[in-house]
Amino acid sequence: MFKLALQDGHNRKVSYVRISVTDRCNLRCVYCSEPTFSDNHHDQILSYEEIVRLVRVLVTLGVDKVRLTGGEPLVRRHIDSLISSLNGIDGVNDISLTTNGVLLEKLADSLRTAGLRRINISLDTLDRKRFKEITGRDYFDQVRAGIEAALAVGFDPVKINIVVMRGVNDDELLDFAALTLKSPIHVRFIEYMPIGASSTWSGDKVVTGAQMLEQISENFGELEPVLAESGGPARLYRLPGAPGRIGVITAMSNHFCATCNRIRVTADGLLRPCLLSDNEYDLKKVLRSGGDFAEIGELVRRAVASKSAEHEMACNIERKCARMMSTIGG
Ligand code: 5AD
Repeated sequence: MFKLALQDGHNRKVSYVRISVTDRCNLRCVYCSEPTFSDNHHDQILSYEEIVRLVRVLVTLGVDKVRLTGGEPLVRRHIDSLISSLNGIDGVNDISLTTNGVLLEKLADSLRTAGLRRINISLDTLDRKRFKEITGRDYFDQVRAGIEAALAVGFDPVKINIVVMRGVNDDELLDFAALTLKSPIHVRFIEYMPIGASSTWSGDKVVTGAQMLEQISENFGELEPVLAESGGPARLYRLPGAPGRIGVITAMSNHFCATCNRIRVTADGLLRPCLLSDNEYDLKKVLRSGGDFAEIGELVRRAVASKSAEHEMACNIERKCARMMSTIGG
């Protein structure tokens, strides 16, 4: 197939789309949900048919990687059928999913059969009581069972995402790091970002990647950088002899915008060129008004062309983006 690769105004090629399949979620994490968590009515979010049509257009533009996110993607019914459909599109080479793991134990097998190969599980604490404080729900055991199921059915790799918040869970870095000694899990520590207008973010809650790595290596000894494998925006390390990996995602302290290769689609069908900018393009309107491949492609090109060189978030500013993470997809 002839491809006119998507390129933005800063010499970056876009080959990766993250699609939020629902803004609904079965958790109410402190940093993600507003006190009045609202969700869109079913027909306000993109149908599976619309998502598939969109991805068919994106592959003609050079996108070959798709990640499904939410909200919580596993609360949307028959998500495995969407994965099979995407898996059947010529040009889609990699499908992954980000989940909170609550429903994973039951679904892991069918997701794998549908063609999913890689999975990221969000888990900010290894303590049941604290889990309930952070997420508002008592589902810690379900998530642990979900992680075990993901390893058992053979997702490779299984990644655990931890949003590190000072005074909330930064005393658990070593416990998470220790998980990589026992199993091939990748733990990825994410710097806390100011997303969602009323989120609990403040600059002093951000623990920087450098601070995290220092704490870990003080305790476990020298971390070996792992350069050969791509961890996406994560910088990867290994504890000596460990089957797992440790990654840090320095979204705040050390931007990786220069290598950004992605666009996002929100649950309600808006194309978002940058996670941390509220600039959005209405894809749903084009999809629903009978837009053909060329029209959809044109809108995607315009959105990609508008990607800014770098986002403006940093630890010392108070600016937050307006949307909640639950509607963007992390
Ligand atoms: N800062 C950093 N990471 C966040 N996530 C959600 N909100 C934030 C935030 N404010 C993470 C989730 C999950 C991924 C989808 O995004 O915990 O790991």
